[in-house]
Amino acid sequence: MSKSFKRTLVTTALPYANGPVHLGHLAGVYLPADIYVRFKRLCGHEVIHIGGSDEHGVPITITADREGITPQDVVDRYHAMNADAFRRCGISFDYYGRTSSTRHHETAREFFLDIEQKGIFVRKSEKLFFDAKAGRFLSDRYVTGTCPICGSTEANGDQCEQCGSHLSPLELIDPKSKLSDAKPELRETLHWYFPLGRFQKQLEAYVEAHNESWRQNVVNYSRTWLNQGLADRAITRDLSWGISLPLDEEAANGKVLYVWFDAVLGYISFTREWAELQGDAERWKRYWQDPESRIVNFIGKDNVVFHTLMFPAILMAWNEGRTEGRYELADNVPASEFMNFEGRKFSKSRNYAVYLGEFLDRFPADTLRYSIAMNYPENKDSDFSWSDFQNRTNGELADTLGNFIKRSVDFTNSRFEGVVPAEISSEAWNSLGIDWPESIRRLSEAYEGFHFREAASLTMEIARFANRFLTEAEPWKTIKVDRQAAAHTMAVSLNLCHTLSLLFYPLIPETCNRIHGMLGFEETIDSLVQPGAAVWDRAALAGLEKGHRLKGSSEILFTKIEQKDLEPELEKIARLLADAERREAVAVQEKVTFKPEIGFEDFQKIDLRVARVLECEPVRKASKLLKMKLQVGAEERQVLSGIAEHYKPDEMVGKQVLLVANLAERTIRGELSQGMILAVEGVDGRLFVVEPQGDGIIGNPVE
Ligand code: MF3
Ligand code: ZN
Repeated sequence: MSKSFKRTLVTTALPYANGPVHLGHLAGVYLPADIYVRFKRLCGHEVIHIGGSDEHGVPITITADREGITPQDVVDRYHAMNADAFRRCGISFDYYGRTSSTRHHETAREFFLDIEQKGIFVRKSEKLFFDAKAGRFLSDRYVTGTCPICGSTEANGDQCEQCGSHLSPLELIDPKSKLSDAKPELRETLHWYFPLGRFQKQLEAYVEAHNESWRQNVVNYSRTWLNQGLADRAITRDLSWGISLPLDEEAANGKVLYVWFDAVLGYISFTREWAELQGDAERWKRYWQDPESRIVNFIGKDNVVFHTLMFPAILMAWNEGRTEGRYELADNVPASEFMNFEGRKFSKSRNYAVYLGEFLDRFPADTLRYSIAMNYPENKDSDFSWSDFQNRTNGELADTLGNFIKRSVDFTNSRFEGVVPAEISSEAWNSLGIDWPESIRRLSEAYEGFHFREAASLTMEIARFANRFLTEAEPWKTIKVDRQAAAHTMAVSLNLCHTLSLLFYPLIPETCNRIHGMLGFEETIDSLVQPGAAVWDRAALAGLEKGHRLKGSSEILFTKIEQKDLEPELEKIARLLADAERREAVAVQEKVTFKPEIGFEDFQKIDLRVARVLECEPVRKASKLLKMKLQVGAEERQVLSGIAEHYKPDEMVGKQVLLVANLAERTIRGELSQGMILAVEGVDGRLFVVEPQGDGIIGNPVE
């Protein structure tokens, strides 16, 4: 950090209120942000943490349709559930808002209108499917039909689930409306586009100005987009759920704002709502419109370009032509990699996840916070496993930290009447074997650099040191011969307890408050921290004076996790993994619906041929497609196939495949496709091309 700032605004990506948050979300975004914010508070810095629910977007309407409830019901349920889970996990939001609030709708409309009135948006007239029965234009997701690439009859307007191809509704064969059974008709409609390209230069300068301070992945994702040249992005959608355009009904022609356009502005709306609750409605401007305030957006890696390009561009558009009321851009956007779970990706749709609320029903928040901090996916994907969780809880939290604190407090209570029995000179404190200023500096640097795994390890190192100190000094022996020496040992130990209660606070706040209480303090650490009070600095000092009275009793800080406590979890994992493996091994499709019977002569109409892939290359602007040159007998054919996510072009060259050779030619994305190759879907939606075995049969029919 080259510049010094007066205060910090931390935001965390707004999770969709369309499901419960799981440990992957916690690890990537919310816990690191909370650790950071608590560290800043401990330092006496002025900092607020703003987050909330993202309550718009198509998936929410799909959940509502599926369950036969309203989108509002869906977001009410998950907003409450997630806010509660975060609270129980000690994620200390200063404000947790929701994008369905009036204030948010107002903010988003204000931005839209400002940019609209400046004439920055591009309007494009499009032909779009219209459901005359429902009286609505159909967004991509609401059109279904036959996939032009694989022939699946259940392709969606934006994507074919079966072959993974990205589609536009106009490409579907035999399109149908999902709202009614009406056959949709094409009509003209108007959409608003944000011309990202207009801000290309400014965005490049923004990203390059941070290429040292931002994480490599953040810079790289952003550069990749910038290098491709920024295109216009549609920021309106044809949906009934969302923020309607602040225009009269006819001008708005049924459009709502695209969810990402409104969601990023949620950070601003929520800061405003927070300020209103503080009784100082203008206070939000100190964070958003003051160059001396530092903005940090914690996100997952899948959200990078929305935060480094799209959101900044929206703010640039707002700032254009303004000398006052200008917004500041984020100073850092720490994007995490993903944390896997027992070696596999979390997947909500496959129910392969541990949900935060459920976890906290079984285990205390701090054990989770610590284990996850130790597995923070900072630069590469990491893994959470039950055995790692158990080892860290038992070996590090219980046996090291918990044991040290309890032994120190119990021995003082029983042998020294519960008071700190000696004075520790700063000389003695500084010659214990820990270089305090250096340790604190390294820790601070780790926190400021968002290296939370390193911060957690360094902190646990100090607990190990303390535990070893007490064990080796053996006050339970020395007290018999030299009470003064034992008193000195205990005074050092109690001071180390105090130091640890502060150092561990960003990581395991609840436990630290309890340690603080056992040490005889009335106030919690939570209540000590406030702007200007540098509590953190006290960690380096021997802060407990001779005669300071402890609370007089102790508690067990961490309960060890027995194997039997994990049994249900391990069984569940085994079940989920076995499930996946079984599907991988034999792939028995349980729900099979066969197509209507056909006669032999129908079958004979299909000309299936063995072909060989001669050349294969990706298709520009169609990330799912591969273009292949096939040899079929003496002939060569060009075929497109939606397998780019499953095969590298090189892997395809030389393969034998099955070709539907007499399928009518089609042009897809401007490329001719003369037939179709056969593929089947495997586990996880992976596609496998069908490969006949044998030699010398290229061009032969399948009979
Ligand atoms: N809801 C989005 C997701 O879960 C994140 C939105 S971040 C915001 O991926 F900035 F747009 F709010
Ligand atoms: Zn398809």
